[in-house]
Amino acid sequence: MSFSHGGDEVGSLVMDIGTLNTKAGFAGEDTPKAIFPSFVGTRNMQDKMQEDNNEVRYYVGHKQLASPKDNLQVESPFENGVISNWDHMERIIDHAYTARLGVKSCDHPILMTEVPYQPRQHREQMLSLLFDKFDAPAVFLAKNPVLSAFAHGKYTALVVDSGAYGTCVTPVHDGYALTRGIVRNQFAGFSLDTLTKQLLEKARKGESVHPLYRIQKTKGKPATILPQDSNIHPSYVDYSLRGVLHDAKEQLLKISDAPFDEQRNKSIPLQNYELLDGSLVDIGTDRFVVPERLFASDERHNNAQQQQQNDEMGEFMPHQNAVHMLAHESIMRCDADIRKDLYANLILTGGTTMIPGFAKRLENELQARAPMNIKVKPAISSAALPTEKKYSVWIGGSILASLGSFQQMWITKQEYQEQGAAIVHKKCP
Ligand SMILES: Nc1ncnc2c1ncn2[C@@H]1O[C@H](COP(=O)(O)OP(=O)(O)OP(=O)(O)O)[C@@H](O)[C@H]1O
Ligand SMILES: [Mg+2]
Repeated sequence: MSFSHGGDEVGSLVMDIGTLNTKAGFAGEDTPKAIFPSFVGTRNMQDKMQEDNNEVRYYVGHKQLASPKDNLQVESPFENGVISNWDHMERIIDHAYTARLGVKSCDHPILMTEVPYQPRQHREQMLSLLFDKFDAPAVFLAKNPVLSAFAHGKYTALVVDSGAYGTCVTPVHDGYALTRGIVRNQFAGFSLDTLTKQLLEKARKGESVHPLYRIQKTKGKPATILPQDSNIHPSYVDYSLRGVLHDAKEQLLKISDAPFDEQRNKSIPLQNYELLDGSLVDIGTDRFVVPERLFASDERHNNAQQQQQNDEMGEFMPHQNAVHMLAHESIMRCDADIRKDLYANLILTGGTTMIPGFAKRLENELQARAPMNIKVKPAISSAALPTEKKYSVWIGGSILASLGSFQQMWITKQEYQEQGAAIVHKKCP
C-alpha cells in the first residue's frame, strides 16, 4: 500500500509524546526533526466589554512558553504517566503537525508511540483522535520498548526506559513486549528535578533557585535577577525552573559503580558549578547521593504495595525506586528459557539513563543477582551517539515505519471506519 497526495508519494510521520518532551519527525530520518515540551499553557482572556465572554488562549512549544504572561497556567496532558487531558494532547499533536513539521495531517500516515502499559481504552481513544480529529490516512500505535529494541537491531531485549515521569522495564521477545514482565515505578527525571533543587538550595545556604524567566542576561555583563511577580502562575514558575534544574542535573549528577557510601567518600573533591543565573556553588558527595536514589531499594514497602497496585497492563511498583530491582523482577517474570537472552541484551533508553555511570551500575547490580553462569551484556555499543540512546524510541519508530514489509501493517482510515477503534488491539500488538 502506498499513500500519495497530488501524485507525490508522501512519507510517514513518527511521534513520541513523552511526559517531558514530544519528539516528532519523518520516518526514515535519523533523528526527530522537532523536540518540544509536552506542556500546554492556557490563559483566560477576559473580554472587558462582555463580562461573560471568557476566551481561553493556548500556548504550546518552546517559543510560546518562553516568556511569562499574567496567569499563564502550564499543564501536562499526563497524570501518573498516562494521558489524562485529551484536549491538551490534541493541542500538542496539532503543534507538531502544523507549527513544527509544517504538514497537513490528512496527507501522512502516522506512527504514534505508546507506553507499554497504556490502558486499552486510551489506545482506542488515540486512534479515534488521529482519525476523527486529524483525518489521518493511516495510523499505527507502537510500544516504546519494542521500538527501542528495533533501533538497536534487536527483536529480543530487556528494555529499561527511564525518562521523566518514571522508569519502566519491559522484556521484548521476538518483537513483542511481554506484558507479564512489565514493571514500572514513578521515579525518574521529575523526582530527580525535585532532589536537585534541594541539593542546590542546600549548597546556596537556603537561598532559592531562580526560574529561567527571571534571569536576564546581557552579553559581557553579570546576569541580573528580575523581581518576583505575583501575577505569574505557580505552574509557570515550576515549568521555568526545570530549565535551570536540567542544566544542573546534566552537569552535576554522577552514579557510582557500586552502592555509594557517603561517609567513606567524605573527601571526594568538590565540583564547582555555575548556575544559569551566574552564581557559583561547590557540590560534594550530593552529586552521587541524589542519583543514588535510582538504585535505592526499599524492601520494606515492596510486597505490600505490589499487591494493591496491579495495573491493567504491567505492574506498578510505586515504592520500588531501584531500577536494578525492577529489571531483576522483570526477568524473573519471564520463562526461564528466555532469561539468558534478556540478560545478554540489555538496552537503556530515556534521558535519565544518560547520567554518567547509570549503565555500568545497572549492569553490576543485575550481574550480582544473576545466576552464576549468566553474563549481563549491554546491547548498545559504547560508541553509540548520545542521541541514539536518548531517542531510541523515536528512531525505532522511524526505522519501522519506513520498512517495506511494514506498509501492510497500517490501520487505514477505511478499516477504522468499517471496524471501529477496537481494531487497534487486533492490528497493533
Ligand atoms: N544528560 C542528562 N543527565 C541527566 N538527566 C537527563 C539528561 N538528559 C535528559 N535528562 C532527563 O531525562 C528526562 C527526559 O527524558 P525523556 O526525553 O526520555 O523523557 P520523556 O520521553 O519525555 O518522558 P517519559 O518517557 O518518562 O514519559 C528529563 O527529566 C531530563 O532532565
Ligand atoms: Mg519517553
